Formats: sequence, structure tokens, C-alpha cells
Amino acid sequence: MSSELDVTLVGPDRAAEVVGVIHRAFAARPPLDPPATAGDETVETVAASLERDGGLLATRRGHPMGAILFDRSRPGMLGLKRVSVDPLGRDRGVASVMVGVAEDVAEEQGMDGIWLTVREELPANYRFWNHRLYLPVRQDGPTIEMGKTLWLAREVPDADTMRDLAARVAGLLRPGDLLVLTGGLGAGKTTFTQGLGEALGVRGPVTSPTFVIARTHPSEVGGPPLVHVDAYRLGDAAEIDDIDLDATTDESVTVVEWGEGMAEQLSDSWLSISIETRAASPGDPLGTACGIPSDEMRVVSIRPHGRRWLEVPLRTALLG
Ligand SMILES: Nc1ncnc2c1ncn2[C@@H]1O[C@H](COP(=O)(O)OP(=O)(O)O)[C@@H](O)[C@H]1O
Ligand SMILES: [Mg+2]
Repeated sequence: MSSELDVTLVGPDRAAEVVGVIHRAFAARPPLDPPATAGDETVETVAASLERDGGLLATRRGHPMGAILFDRSRPGMLGLKRVSVDPLGRDRGVASVMVGVAEDVAEEQGMDGIWLTVREELPANYRFWNHRLYLPVRQDGPTIEMGKTLWLAREVPDADTMRDLAARVAGLLRPGDLLVLTGGLGAGKTTFTQGLGEALGVRGPVTSPTFVIARTHPSEVGGPPLVHVDAYRLGDAAEIDDIDLDATTDESVTVVEWGEGMAEQLSDSWLSISIETRAASPGDPLGTACGIPSDEMRVVSIRPHGRRWLEVPLRTALLG
């Protein structure tokens, strides 16, 4: 029989196994003040919670090794409660596997993000989540709430859809925001930036800044200017400092093409937008033979980094 961990979505019929793991896990923790309330959970309270919001049970060879109760009290967000690993299963990645499954569940169910709380007396728990890109949102006494905004990927069949996607992104932006675009030559980075510029109401045209490295497009509607940077010919991170973007990034929306690994130093938070080109579908009626560049499928992945994007409903705004 395999020693693989099996993680499944469970309902109230598995409450006895779930409460057993919760009790074993929390009994192994140091005493806290005020004490954790996990010890008060019973089969009935856990069954009611699983009935309402569901949860995860991890088993190995049929033995319960870990559990999580979901909390769906916040719209668009998946809460993780009572994240529990049997003391025998420590250091065997049970928690990591469960968190991966919980994130998949949240994504499949169209959630924008995940939240949970940790006790400040348990720094190893804090580090566990922080390592998985969960960031502190707020603190209430010894309880720290942590959150993570989920990334997304979507198909973009043509240049107009790329501009529409950018317009949706523009709707979320405010002065000081940084976008880092990656993707090969012709992927659609400038097309995306054009959509952004149009939606922000800045003076155009937005073109590939081939002869200049950075171009500022002032707003025509009293909003933030768009600073459009092409880092293609910049050798390294030091050179992005030379163009003195720091002076403007607080008041502007800054978009850096080819900026991965360089632009991130400009801000603690950024949106990374990567564009992958997929082969054109066979029988595409718009061949380049007739002189029109044909539309081709792209897959655009948008990943939030840093505190700025906590609690921003990226997936709802960009996929809905
Ligand atoms: N799905 C798509 N998304 C974006 N651009 C597309 C798409 N399909 C075809 N294109 C075309 O590909 C080209 C992308 O060029 P550009 O935006 O300048 O790329 P980059 O700045 O990444 O080098 C444009 O001519 C655009 O019309
Ligand atoms: Mg370009």
C-alpha cells in the first residue's frame, strides 16, 4: 500500500476523524494565553462546521494525519481554521500538502484569496505561512490575521481582448502601483500597455519605447500619469536605478516591459504579468499572408506580490 498522503474534501460524516486530529494537534502545542479554543471542539461542533463550510482531511494508509476547517463567512474569501497536523505527521509535509489543496479548492471555487489567523506566540507557524507568501493583514491582541491574494491565468485570444484585460487591470490601479511585464518579443506587452493607457486616460500614443528607455504619459483626466519603461536594453538592476524612476513612482502608475528581476526593487509590491504565446490554432482564417498580423492565443498570468495586493479581488475583477 502506498504511503502517499491522501487529502480530500470532507463533510460532516468525517467529523469524528477531523476532531480527533484537531485535538491531537492542539494538545501538542505549548499552552497559550488566552488558551486556544480548539480543545473545546466536539464531534458536533466540527460536524456543524463541515456541514456549513466543508473542510479537508488528510489520511495516510487510512489514518487521519491532518485536517483543516473552511470558513466561508467572508464573500470571495476562503478562511482556513484549525489547521491541524497529527504530531506523528510533523516534518512530513502534511501541512504543506493540505495548504496546496486548499489553494486549489479556493481557485476552483473562484475565490479571490485565503485568510487565516496565527498566534504571535507561535513564530514557527507564522514563518510557515510567510514562507508560502501569506502576509500579515492585521493584528488583534496576540492573534495575527494573514492573507494571500490568489494569482490567475486566463486565455487571451486576440489583441482587443488583451486591451480589455488591461482596462480591467487599470480599474484596480492607483498612484504608486508597479506592473512588471514579461513575455518574448511580440508577446503583447506593449499592446497590454496601450489598453492600460487608454483606460487610465493618459495622452498617447503608447508605443514600444525603442529610442527612449522610459516615457511618461500625462493623464488627461486628472489621474496618475503612466510611466512606460522598456528595460530590454538595460544590462542589469543597477541601470534601472540610473533612469531615476524612484522620483516618479509614488505618483505614477509604472509599467516595465522586460523588467523581471530588475523592477521589483522599485517597490515592495507589484503585479507580475507574464504573457505566454501559444501556437495559433490550425485553420486560422487571418493568415499573415494577407498582410494583417493574425490574432494568436496568449495565456496571461497575473501574480500579485506584496501587501498592496492583499484583499484586492483580483480574480473577480479580472476573470468575472
Ligand atoms: N492575443 C494577443 N494579444 C496581444 N497581442 C496580440 C495577440 N494576438 C496577436 N497580437 C499581435 O501581436 C503583436 C504584439 O506586439 P507588442 O504588443 O508590441 O509585443 P511586445 O511589446 O511584447 O514585444 C501586436 O501586433 C498584436 O496585434
Ligand atoms: Mg514592447
